[in-house]
Amino acid sequence: MATQEEHPLIAEYRRFSPGSETLAERSTAVFPGGDTRSSAHYGPYPLVMDHGSGCHITDVDGHELLDFMNNFTSLIHGHAHPAVVAAVKEQASKGSAYAATSLNQIELAELIVERVPSIEQLRFTSSGTEGTLMAIRCARAATGRQKIMKMEGGYHGSYELAEVSLVPDPNERGSLDAPVSLPIDKSFPESVLRDTVICPYNEPERAEALIDTHAQDVAAVIVEPVLGSMGMLPASHEFLAALRRATERHGIVLIFDEVITLRLGDGGAQSVYGVIPDLTCMGKIIGGGLPVGGVGGKRELMQLFSPSQENPVMHASTFSGNALTMAAGKAAMEAYTGDEVKRINALGERLREGCNHAFQQAGIKGQALGMGSLTNLHIASNGVLHDARDSIAGMIAAGHIPRLLHLCMLRRGVASASRLMFCVSTAMGESEIEQAITALHESLAELGPYVASERPLLVA
Ligand SMILES: Cc1ncc(COP(=O)(O)O)c(C=O)c1O
Repeated sequence: MATQEEHPLIAEYRRFSPGSETLAERSTAVFPGGDTRSSAHYGPYPLVMDHGSGCHITDVDGHELLDFMNNFTSLIHGHAHPAVVAAVKEQASKGSAYAATSLNQIELAELIVERVPSIEQLRFTSSGTEGTLMAIRCARAATGRQKIMKMEGGYHGSYELAEVSLVPDPNERGSLDAPVSLPIDKSFPESVLRDTVICPYNEPERAEALIDTHAQDVAAVIVEPVLGSMGMLPASHEFLAALRRATERHGIVLIFDEVITLRLGDGGAQSVYGVIPDLTCMGKIIGGGLPVGGVGGKRELMQLFSPSQENPVMHASTFSGNALTMAAGKAAMEAYTGDEVKRINALGERLREGCNHAFQQAGIKGQALGMGSLTNLHIASNGVLHDARDSIAGMIAAGHIPRLLHLCMLRRGVASASRLMFCVSTAMGESEIEQAITALHESLAELGPYVASERPLLVA
């Protein structure tokens, strides 16, 4: 229910979505905070969805929204792609999980090995979280070292090590030369913080120096080629090359977390940058919309998982490689051809260009950043953002404005992540991109007076 002092744009959102609001009340009774997944939640309540088709998703009030969220980049073809639906239907009638190898499993693995330069062998997992976890265990077993270096602002899944210093408090995070390992909530054991070395993103010299300093204890360096949670900030080539050089020098395993970025090139972001890691973590698009993850890499590293080894790295996981996911993933990946990669990357470029123009026209500080089909809007900045610190400074300056913009866009039929992440699916074409840009123009026009009165520093 609306409160008297509620922001007028939130009140508008409530008027737009009465069916979702009613269901949100029921949700709140059974889920903490009204949701079963923190990352997908936003206030005052998220829209409740009824069905999806192609690039559209329809909520319970009957609004058909253009879906740029695509389940946080996992739906490379949007919703209910015919080939994926057919593959899942066929497989469902044959059973969903066998606890045994299946043909689709082998063929999806072969496709990945053929495309991704670093991958000679792989293991499927049930989530990206499990993929990064297994990569870390593999690296520790291979090197006999314990510490893991991760990037400030990097996200690798739902466990403590994967989230250390995800959104570090500016007052506690220390200098760029020696960033402090910080927890994101009260659940973190001290031991995890001690075992994590934090590296600033996009700082090649500092990264090399940190690796040299900690080399004796570090099993792996894990990095996203595009820093997703901090707003799709692409790594510079020099940065990834520096990580490659320094890890090679010290026998440290270099892990690329390509859970999000695999979509950026035929062989993932590594094929775009031409920097090849030892291990690659995957997820999202390789499951065709079903739960999935994976880790792959050099044969000699992946062999550590082999049950025929004397003391293999344990990897069990009831639903890894399940038949339904493998059928969906194979159909989706076969349909994601090199031409489609190029086409949606170009649509992403056009989206960023149009969004940047919309911010300029509206006279509001903001910009679209990203790479290929991955885009994030950043309010409060129109300069260069190259690391988590830049991104966090923008979030602090922007305050509640991005949240309001997200709700304005939803009311105009365009769905993104609430942190304003937009990803393009193959179900989209130029007209959908133009529709999103128009919605941004209109939303910024509506938002303008509130920006001027509530956050005047954001007026350009
Ligand atoms: C870069 C990255 N790594 C790992 C994960 C974890 O994947 P999952 O949510 O499938 O566990 C995510 C999820 O968003 C991610 O963005």
